[in-house]
Parts: sequence; C-alpha cells; structure tokens
Amino acid sequence: MNTLSLWRGTAAPTGYAMLSGDVTCDVLIVGGGITGVTLADLLAEQKTANPPKVVLLEADAIGTGTTGNSTGNLYETLSSGLREIHAKWGAEVARQVADERRTAVNFIEERCRLLPDVGFRRCDLVEWADRAHNDAIRKEIEALTAAGCAVDRGTTIPAPLPPAEGDVLVLRNQAQFQPQAYVVALAARAAQAGASIHEHSRVLEIDHKARRAVTAAGSVTAREIVMATHTPKGVHLVHTEMPVHREYAIAFEWAPDGPPGPGTFWWKAAEHLSIRTLQAGGRHYLVCAGQEHKVGIHNATAGMIALENLARKYFGDRPVTHRWSAQNYRGADALPYIGRNHSDCFIATGFATDGLTWGTVAARLIAAELLGHKSAFADLVKPGRLSPVKGGKNILQENALVVTQLVKDYLTQRQNEKLSELKAGDSAIVDAEGETVAAYRAPDGELFAVSPVCTHVGCKVHWNSVETSWDCPCHGSRFRPDGTVIEGPALAPLKRKHTPDLAGGGSAPA
Ligand code: FES
Repeated sequence: MNTLSLWRGTAAPTGYAMLSGDVTCDVLIVGGGITGVTLADLLAEQKTANPPKVVLLEADAIGTGTTGNSTGNLYETLSSGLREIHAKWGAEVARQVADERRTAVNFIEERCRLLPDVGFRRCDLVEWADRAHNDAIRKEIEALTAAGCAVDRGTTIPAPLPPAEGDVLVLRNQAQFQPQAYVVALAARAAQAGASIHEHSRVLEIDHKARRAVTAAGSVTAREIVMATHTPKGVHLVHTEMPVHREYAIAFEWAPDGPPGPGTFWWKAAEHLSIRTLQAGGRHYLVCAGQEHKVGIHNATAGMIALENLARKYFGDRPVTHRWSAQNYRGADALPYIGRNHSDCFIATGFATDGLTWGTVAARLIAAELLGHKSAFADLVKPGRLSPVKGGKNILQENALVVTQLVKDYLTQRQNEKLSELKAGDSAIVDAEGETVAAYRAPDGELFAVSPVCTHVGCKVHWNSVETSWDCPCHGSRFRPDGTVIEGPALAPLKRKHTPDLAGGGSAPA
C-alpha cells in the first residue's frame, strides 16, 4: 500500500548531502522533524560573536518521520483534552500548558511570515461528541475556561459531518499549516544561517561519554547532543513510561467551497475522527484521521479499513488519494518529557498526537537552556520527574506489556510454513533450520528473512501489513523487511538471516 502522506506528496523535495567524515560542533541535533529543525533555526540565527556551530543529522529526509505524517493542526489544548492536565496537575498547570502552547503557535505564525507560503491559516478548533461522550465535551469547556482560553459554546455542526448530540465546543484562533512544507522551508532558512544539515545520515551508535554520534560514513563529536528523534535513541528511562500508538489518516478530493470550511474538527465517539480541509497543488482535499492502535499488536489493515469505512459513512464513497500513518508516544502523566536526561543529552518526547505544537515548545525550551536562559516551564516537563501518583498506573500497565512481550514468543502466524512456500506479499514468523525467522516476500518475489528479536531490548516484532514493516510492541521501534531501522529507540537493524530457503531461490510460488 502506498503510504505517502498528502503533506509529503505535495511539498518540495530536499537534497542535503549525507554526512561524510568526522566533524566537531557545539550542538548536534539528531532528527530533522519539527523539533530538530526549529531548534537548528533558533540556534543558527543567533547574532552573537560566537554563534553555536550546529550540525543536524536526519536518518531519512527532512520531515519524513512524524512531522510529514501528522495532521497539520496547531492548537493550545491537547487532543486528549486540557481537562486531563487539569485533573492530574490542577488549574494552574493547565493554564501554563495552554499559555506555552499558544506561544508556540504564535511563534510558528511569526516564522511563517519569514518563509515562502506554507499554508498557515488561523481557524477555530471545534469539538463535539455523540450522546455517550458529551460529558467529556462539557468538562473540556470548563477546563479551557479555567485556563483562560477563548472558548465558546457553538450550536450546530455543518452536514455532512457527524451530528452533535450535545455541547459544541469552539476554541477560537487556533491554526493550521502544511507541516512538511513548513519544516522544509525552515530547514532551508537554518542552513542559510549556517546550520550544517545532513540527510540520509542515520545515527548507528551514540557514545554519551565521548559525546560522539557515528553514522555509516562519518561521525560528529559535539559539546551538546539533542535527540529530536520523537523518542530518544538507545535505552532511556522514559521508554518505560510511554505507551506507543499509531494513528491512521486518509485524504480524498473535496469541493473547494464544500463544508466544513477552515477549521480543525474533532468528533468524539466510540470511533474518534479528526477532520480538516486543505488546498494543495490547485486541488482541494478533505483529511480524516483517527483509529489509533497500539504499535505491534493491532491488525494495521483492519485499522485503515475501519477509518475508510467511517469516512465513507459521512462523506460518501470517494476514491482515497492518500493514506498514511504516524506514531505517537504518550507521557505517563499527560505531560511531555523535554530537557536534559540521565544520559546528559537533551531529549524531547511524549508528545502524544499533539507533536507539532509540543515539538515547537520543546525546541524553544532547549534553545533557551543552551543559550543560558532556562524557563520555569522547563522544570515542569523535565525528563527526570517521576510522578507515580500522577502516572503510576500507566507506567505499571506499560511495563506489564513489555514483560509480556519479552517472555511471549510472538509466533502467531504460520510458524510451520516453509519459507519457500511464502507467497508474494505475505509475511510470517517461521521456524527455519531450528531458527525463528521473520520473513516477508515482496511482490516481485524477493524474500527477506530477519531475526524477530528487536535490537532495542529484545521484544518480538510483529508484522504491519499497511506499512510493510516489522513493528515492536514494547517501545515502538519499526524496521523495514530487510531489517533496517525506520523509527523508534533501536539503533541497530534486525539481524539478517541466511537460510537454505533464501539460498535455494527467491522466486514466489505460483
Ligand atoms: Fe524496545 Fe523493541 S522497541 S524492545
């Protein structure tokens, strides 16, 4: 299945050179999504006598990780509701969160004035529910009001969106943009100001003591290392605190003046749906996102089909032009983890599905600390805070899952099948010559066989049929069929397996 997002499919390409050779710098940023690129831009624009020398390493191309697979919505609240922060941390922290996120959206608006058009627009965020979930909307209106947000009660929802069966929440003056176009343009600005950006430069090893990151063709030694990788690479305490999910999105062409018009529309029901419109390349689209599932456990194809069926129910039977998916990591106590952690590197993670705004908050907080002006909000989100009272239940649940996956041999598929009998497009975990092998046969007949043991801390990977990848349920590492890392905390690829079936022939059975 083609999973190129609407944003990535309609933004300009980039072409930064791969890192080659050994370099030194003041700040190494690992990751070229919104967090890393914003930080690079903030540091590179410093007009001091000795501006920091910045190197940014991106494993693939700028924005192609999570930023280019997001929804493009910017807002001061949270997708799980500001009411969750209010309930766990109190009204004052909820107000600080909304203030910090509002400032980040304003910052993005200011940057957009310096960039070519990236589709930034101010709009309202509208949230409503079916009857069974209306209580959440009512509580959210109370929490937003207490936090000083500009929230109103609406009355109706334009057809053909799902009807409101209770309160309609309207949060004023939020925003949207084309996230991929934004990071591509911001990276160009940072590079022009002096940041060294390298694409296709995956970090394979980090020596925290020596402050050195190694890629296939070079290395970077830095005074400070910032892991802007969505979840930090390697083994970190925060991995034990964050459930990992994937959420699906689709787009289809839509009438230019069709409802619902500009805005972010969140419908809460047994099935959650996030809806927005977009104009790109002279075409108009409706984007629908929803159907979140736990990485490496759920049937990904079923999740995508469920989203398409839900969209079809309300918007008719239209050809889907784009399908994509993005991963998210949730902080156990509903706040992200931003700042220096026990490895003495900076990390920025736990953004849930609110990463465009949190990523910008993170870049601003880390830039401020690196430049010697740490803000009070940084203490609230620092990685070392373990708040068992607020997050204990989630941490226990998450670690119970990891233990289960570590001890359970995840052999749910046809393990007695022979590799040579695997049909084109099929995957299986099989026993081959006494070894357990995660195998996939590509549509052209090529057979890939790798170890199913995740190289992070040893859980068993599970096949993702939508994105043709082996996904780890424990901390969200994902691998291509040939074992190379796509995302997540794992640094090393899945071990390639050389079996007699592979040696004996790669053609698919008829
Ligand atoms: Fe941690 Fe796989 S991501 S064990």
